Amino acid sequence: MAGPVRIHNILSNLWSKNAKLGKILQAGNWEGEIQRCLRSDIASAITTTSFPEFDSSPQLNSHLDLYKLSLEKPDIFWGKLARSRLTWSKDFDRVSDCDLSNGLIKWFIDGKINASVNCVDRHLDKYGNRVALIWEKDEPGQEEYITYKDLSLLVNKLSNSLKNHGVKRGDRVAIYLPCCPIAVAAMLACTRIGAIHSVVFAGFSSEALAGRILDARAETVITANEDVRGGKLLNLKKTVDDAVAKASCVKRVFVYDLLDRQVPMNKLDIPLNKVMSESSGESEAVPMDSLESLFMLYTSGSTGKPKGITHSHGGYLTYAAVTFKHVFDYKEEERFGCLADIGWITGHSYVVYGPLLNGATTVLFSSTPTYPDPGRYWETVERLKINHLYIAPTALRLLLKGGDSWVTKYNRSSLRKLGCVGEPLNHEAFEWYRDVIGEKRCDVIDTWWQTETGGICIAPRPSNPDAPIYPAMPMRPFFGIDPVLLDSAGQVIEEDNASGSLCIKRPWPGMAQTIYGDHQRYVETYYQPFAGYYYTGDGAVRHPGGYYQITGRMDDVLNVSGHRLGTGEIEDVLDDHHAVAESAVVGFPHDIKGEGIYAYVILKDGVSESRENIISELRQMTKKRLASYAQPDMIQFTPGLPKTRSGKIMRRILRKVAASSSDDLGDISTLADPSIVDVIIKNHDKIV
Ligand code: PRX
Repeated sequence: MAGPVRIHNILSNLWSKNAKLGKILQAGNWEGEIQRCLRSDIASAITTTSFPEFDSSPQLNSHLDLYKLSLEKPDIFWGKLARSRLTWSKDFDRVSDCDLSNGLIKWFIDGKINASVNCVDRHLDKYGNRVALIWEKDEPGQEEYITYKDLSLLVNKLSNSLKNHGVKRGDRVAIYLPCCPIAVAAMLACTRIGAIHSVVFAGFSSEALAGRILDARAETVITANEDVRGGKLLNLKKTVDDAVAKASCVKRVFVYDLLDRQVPMNKLDIPLNKVMSESSGESEAVPMDSLESLFMLYTSGSTGKPKGITHSHGGYLTYAAVTFKHVFDYKEEERFGCLADIGWITGHSYVVYGPLLNGATTVLFSSTPTYPDPGRYWETVERLKINHLYIAPTALRLLLKGGDSWVTKYNRSSLRKLGCVGEPLNHEAFEWYRDVIGEKRCDVIDTWWQTETGGICIAPRPSNPDAPIYPAMPMRPFFGIDPVLLDSAGQVIEEDNASGSLCIKRPWPGMAQTIYGDHQRYVETYYQPFAGYYYTGDGAVRHPGGYYQITGRMDDVLNVSGHRLGTGEIEDVLDDHHAVAESAVVGFPHDIKGEGIYAYVILKDGVSESRENIISELRQMTKKRLASYAQPDMIQFTPGLPKTRSGKIMRRILRKVAASSSDDLGDISTLADPSIVDVIIKNHDKIV
């Protein structure tokens, strides 16, 4: 069949299968785009500057050649890159030894390396005076510049402070700090002495913090007295005090004065500014085994409490360094503006490790997209002359509503690449980003990855620099990433344009090593759903040419403004309310947040309290026990839930009702009491 005709047929077929996707593709001449894309991919050359490691290989002429090498000979590919991009205290003996069935992930075996040496020390001779961090504080125009030399001093003094107070190799250290230089120094100081950092997003409640401290059995916490964000004062120390009261494992709390204000100090508290000023500016870096844990970061799963995803030294650092350089085509001396918080994996890999491993200048953004007004991002871009922006679709959707004038009043000519991560980038937001923000000059790089993957796994670049970028999809697997789509029976879906469960077939260096303290859960969650594959939990569609579009979570994980939340976590909190007998939480489409939280609540018999009161208490409880973004947007009281005869809640029905699309509920005959569905629909119609 002739190319264009075949592609036309494929697309027609696709449109009938998936109306939403069809809309995305119909909005442009995508048949032509696909043709061009396929042609330019095949012709794409590797530039010598981007991969000097492979210059002497005459058979490697294109991006595809290199991608194939990364899959077929991963040890050659990653071994070369790990050696040339990082400095090892001792070379590794073997590149990898992985067994996906048992979740055994080993990269750069017997190698020894220190993260802080790689992020800071090795840049000092050549680039000591280069700006490492630009601290963009809450008030515009107050930025501070921290050179690699400055950062080195902070890291050394902080690591000596930790050591002098008894923190040792292998200890877990909870860091409860906003995105600021001392937070970066704290992370690197831990790595310098071999302690494992566990950054907890500084918007989490004291209960959420306590849970994470207890799970990690962390004896040390690093925090600050107070902070301001979006003009509001945040009492970080008070939150930590409340958490420490519940976590008896804590032996010491380092308190940094971010603001010049006094807060009450308790007997475990250590004034960090003071002890740092008294500490030596030289601290020996411990050569860590490549397989030892570098950090842990909690993330939500579909069941149970958050999991402490744990990354190792050699594998994670290699993957963060290589993805940063090539996905964004980072060039020396450019300013990288990943505006995520360090409390999330995006902050770890693309605010801290990726940029610093590459000797880059990275922005630490401590404000909000709308403070003091919706022009904040663009004013910051102009003032700091940012070259790469990396933000979340939810922020784009929010700012898009404010109109173009907030953007166009600022000069954005410094921008070269526009990155995005965390949730599907919808068509409208993609176009606004490309056409208005980037004035059609910049590539829009939608990147798909997860806390567990360590770094970006699917993104339109690297490729031939001229290859077109489709809207609303991350497109190409990164080097070493071999995605497959599986159907519910675990069969590989070979044809294009069908959707399936996104899994990854081969190990790559960035993948997490375990769930802290629960390797069994790690194996069950990621490797048992489909034996022999890494299971992502996401659904995806593969387009002709092998380009992936992510359709969203397939499990009971919500993605609210790019934040992961388990429905079970929210239900646990709601069920603890004295008037609640049972609850079920689902997501529903939300214009700004991508997904909103919809809670169905069954009250106990005889509850006389007003419904308004209960709603307000339930919202307060989720804010207090989890985080403010975990508060349900909608709460519907219901006399029952749609359950099968075996007692399983049929969430599919609840999702449809929450999305106001209850005319297509599918088969409900297996419900124990199908009549409850009508009641739920009627009650829903009353509250929307
Ligand atoms: O559902 C996918 C969504 O975010 C999930 C991972 O969340 P987290 O571990 O918090 O890490 C977020 C930042 C890396 C994924 O399972 N997700 C991430 N990126 C995209 C995405 N969904 C669609 N498109 C993306 N580009």
